[in-house]
Amino acid sequence: MAELERTFVMVKPDGVQRGLVGEIISRFERRGLKIAAMKMLVVSDELAKQHYAEHASKPFFPGLVGFIKSGPVVAMVVEGKNVVPLVRSMLGATNPANSNPGTIRGDFALDTGRNVIHASDSPESAKREISLYFNTSEIATYSRIDEQWLY
Ligand code: PPS
Repeated sequence: MAELERTFVMVKPDGVQRGLVGEIISRFERRGLKIAAMKMLVVSDELAKQHYAEHASKPFFPGLVGFIKSGPVVAMVVEGKNVVPLVRSMLGATNPANSNPGTIRGDFALDTGRNVIHASDSPESAKREISLYFNTSEIATYSRIDEQWLY
């Protein structure tokens, strides 16, 4: 069986309020990725600032933090082979003007600030972000029934 890596994915408040959660989860499931953990929450000010700490000096930081805590988000741990770059490719470019049709942002977003979804950009970020949002006891271990066909 292939070694399965993990990434952190979050449907942002715009994605939740536009009713895109099911569509997004479905894309990951159909691709063959495994949802290992999932919860809806409203991100606190402290968690938002920790999550986006690397952008603290950027001009868009206050807007980004304000937006992320403006409504419920759906946080997930997603597993699969090469999952970090794979999921980023499914999201499309950060600026939806550059996201290809067929990607989540290319199909559903128009604006960089309201770009529907976040996913970790490296395995190190994935580890850090997963631990910000989930305890180890909240992450499930199971096999997809089709895993032998996927790998
Ligand atoms: S950078 O400067 O290249 O490191 O930043 P980038 O990777 O493009 O973006 C980091 C996250 O900030 C969000 N972002 C914005 N939010 C609101 N307004 C503006 N103008 C803006 N520019 C960037 C961007 O969507 C990234 O969020 P995530 O959640 O990681 O996709």
